[in-house]
Amino acid sequence: MSREIRVFADAHDMSRAAADVMVRLAGEAVQARGLFVVALAGGSSPKTLYMLLAGHTYRHSVPWEKVHFFWGDERHVPPDHNDCNYRMARETMLSKVEVPAGNIHRVRSENPDARQAAEDYETELREFFTANNLLANGLPRFDLVLLGMGPDGHTASLFPGTHAVRERERWVAAPWVDKFHTYRVTLTPLVLNNAACILFFVGGEEKAETLRAVLEGAEESDRYPAQVIRPTGGVLCWMVDRAAAKLLTSSKQ
Ligand code: 6PG
Repeated sequence: MSREIRVFADAHDMSRAAADVMVRLAGEAVQARGLFVVALAGGSSPKTLYMLLAGHTYRHSVPWEKVHFFWGDERHVPPDHNDCNYRMARETMLSKVEVPAGNIHRVRSENPDARQAAEDYETELREFFTANNLLANGLPRFDLVLLGMGPDGHTASLFPGTHAVRERERWVAAPWVDKFHTYRVTLTPLVLNNAACILFFVGGEEKAETLRAVLEGAEESDRYPAQVIRPTGGVLCWMVDRAAAKLLTSSKQ
């Protein structure tokens, strides 16, 4: 696994760099396989990135009709709920560009049974990646997985102390998250780590101590689930801003 840490002055610079990477990867994937398959991150950090991609600087550089969007995780809410990661991506990007409806593969999080929503999402992954001959090691191989990280070291919806962090069979899990008193639906490390490129996108001083522990501390992935992200054959890039990186001893400015 190759790991790179890139530090940026602020969220805007980080978002531009991430947009440049996504445009490059999309072009390479489309040229090689005719499509680009990405798992989007939720939360608030990627909003600027998604708005940039749909903006005048980048929108014409993305082959939108050949991009397939999945989500790394989803909240257990309907698609029109304020907390929904799909809704956030739709409002900041997908509603502003020409993406065929069939290219948008959201989690059916409106299902009252989160476990069933996870099983259905796993079926959709299996059907899509098999039909497009995009399995590697028998697992979905995303061209790009975007991930954020919470101040507690969670990523996607792999939260400290949840079974999903250790899941080694399922592709999608539906962990109960005590701190939010809700279920989530998340890709498991099995699928996330099978990606060709994993891009962490982390900003803010409130994450500095956790980022140091994750990148430079002891292996404690139950406590810091972001540590479980180790691509089996792909590239891992951490894009962080100066505020989040302030406690790191080794990083490329
Ligand atoms: C989610 C995300 C989650 C997010 C982190 C960071 O559903 O909330 O997938 O893993 O990336 O919580 O969130 P912020 O970007 O809002 O800090």
